[in-house]
Amino acid sequence: MLSSSSSSEEDNDDLCEESEDSHFGSSRSSKESYNKSDVEEVKEGEERTDLKVHDMGLVLQSTSWEVAILISIIYGAIRWWFSIKFKFWKLRGVPYVLPSFPCGNIGELILGRLSTNIIYKKIYDKLEGHTFGGLFHLTRPIFIIRDIELVKNVLIKDFEHFNNRFRDTEKGSGILSKILFLSDGSKWKKIRQSISPTLTPSKIKAMFTIFTESTKDMMDFLQERVFDSDDLKINVLAYDFTTDVLCSFAFGQRINGMKNPNSELRLMGRSIVKELNGGSFVVKIIASFFPIINRALNCKCQPIRYIEKVVTERIKHREKNGWFRNDFVQFLIQSRKRGRIVNDELLEDSCPQMATKGYFGIDVYLTDKMYEQLVFHCLEMFLAGYDTMSTTIGFCLHELAINPDIQQTLIEEINEVLKEFGGEITHGAVQKMEYLDKVLSETLRMYPVGGTVFRTCTSSYMIPGTKTLLEKGMQVVIPVYALHHDPKYYPNPEKFDPERFNEQNKASRPRYCYLPFGEGPRMCLGMRFALLGVKVAVVALLSKYELSVSKKTLLPIRLDHSTIILSAKGDIWLRISNRK
Ligand code: HEM
Repeated sequence: MLSSSSSSEEDNDDLCEESEDSHFGSSRSSKESYNKSDVEEVKEGEERTDLKVHDMGLVLQSTSWEVAILISIIYGAIRWWFSIKFKFWKLRGVPYVLPSFPCGNIGELILGRLSTNIIYKKIYDKLEGHTFGGLFHLTRPIFIIRDIELVKNVLIKDFEHFNNRFRDTEKGSGILSKILFLSDGSKWKKIRQSISPTLTPSKIKAMFTIFTESTKDMMDFLQERVFDSDDLKINVLAYDFTTDVLCSFAFGQRINGMKNPNSELRLMGRSIVKELNGGSFVVKIIASFFPIINRALNCKCQPIRYIEKVVTERIKHREKNGWFRNDFVQFLIQSRKRGRIVNDELLEDSCPQMATKGYFGIDVYLTDKMYEQLVFHCLEMFLAGYDTMSTTIGFCLHELAINPDIQQTLIEEINEVLKEFGGEITHGAVQKMEYLDKVLSETLRMYPVGGTVFRTCTSSYMIPGTKTLLEKGMQVVIPVYALHHDPKYYPNPEKFDPERFNEQNKASRPRYCYLPFGEGPRMCLGMRFALLGVKVAVVALLSKYELSVSKKTLLPIRLDHSTIILSAKGDIWLRISNRK
């Protein structure tokens, strides 16, 4: 590292000398001839101006010298400063991947060539044989974990040292200061306690009609358009379905966006997602460190205000008229009325280890301020589910289309189970489909749309069995995409094989090498909702149609390196045909 920086300093000196020489040589002769010819042509009064020009030339020459020297000093100082910063991991005896000036290990991200997930995979591969390692986001040191025992410690066993996701998230304003994903410490705990009870298995079961209503709208739409077979942008269909589901769930309003593409709520919701996804590369680099913060910073307020208004009106209307509907909004109203909620149910189910530590096993009292904030959680639910659920549906259907044998096995299971349930797609029927579960697990193994799980060290932590101390504030990366593509855990990782998730294969693998929803107390709150929603969409489609590759299908599928979550580049075109 040092040698590279000093050699480039020499290069720089050479460059500086060269430019000084050429500057003197050429400018002197050109200025002399310029002055001469000018003196001959111009009259007396104007000669003074020529003299001034000549003087100015000298001043400019010396200024250029000084500027060149100053630039080289500044450049040298910057290089020196970077080389000091880049020694961070070396000084701590932590293996690391050599950074380069000035971007550290994320040059390809800054140039828009690779996404963070792929960069972390490359670093993970380079650190083979090590339990953990270091890298740099620009000059900022980042700690990356390879070993799954350590993954377990960070996410669960020693969670008290890692209960924040990002650093400095409190600096956010507006919506940022209110959402769960970005909250820290005790504030996060309070918010999670207050909204977890709205997503327990029994509440999600009660909300099942949200999925069936949106599925019916999707199937009606397809029936009107698909006569025999047709090429379809399956990702657009998935986005439409997900928008319907989430507007219904999070904003309490059924919109049937496929029939009413200009529904204001739909457009406003999408415009927020679009705004949050926009921005320059620089914004994206920052966003890769603090995704939602920076997404939301870019967000225009008008759509947020509109949605806030819709949700508030909905709550008031329901309260006034005693109207009831099983959705997120309703559960918020109930929470407010009761004034207290106990949420052990979700905790026991998702993270028994933490329940014994008493993280959430307490009653929660909702204050008026908390209630006000809960309206923002409706928006958070929409944002958290929009990209993640729709891209998962898209990837899943793509893999089914390019693997007809797997699709056929799934269709057979769907036929068999639906027959048992009288042809109805019910909660019980979907839960009974074991092969469907394997297909979706394998989809999320190959395409974990979250891609990376982040934690920040909240109090110094000595890595068990080592002398490495993680200091407070250190950003920790768990490279989920890399773990899911490690042949050590998943032989032939690029092959789509749902049998990896049969009971025998699952038991033969360590648990924490599969993390599409993260793990521990900060794991995805919407996991069950998302899994059920994706499954219902897939079952509905395959109960009537079959999918295959069309001329427009891009093979192999390519990943979009400009998005924060894992998504396909371009549209996912598939042929959809009526089942024989
Ligand atoms: C296939 C769909 C989805 C995937 C793959 C996914 C994945 C994730 C991941 C990886 C995290 C970070 C977990 C961690 O740090 O340990 C997360 C957090 C979160 N997700 Fe999801 N998610 C999905 C859908 C949803 C949906 C539909 C909702 C809401 C209805 C949701 C709500 C949240 C929330 C609120 C958090 C923050 C939890 C906290 O900080 O306590 N997600 N999700």
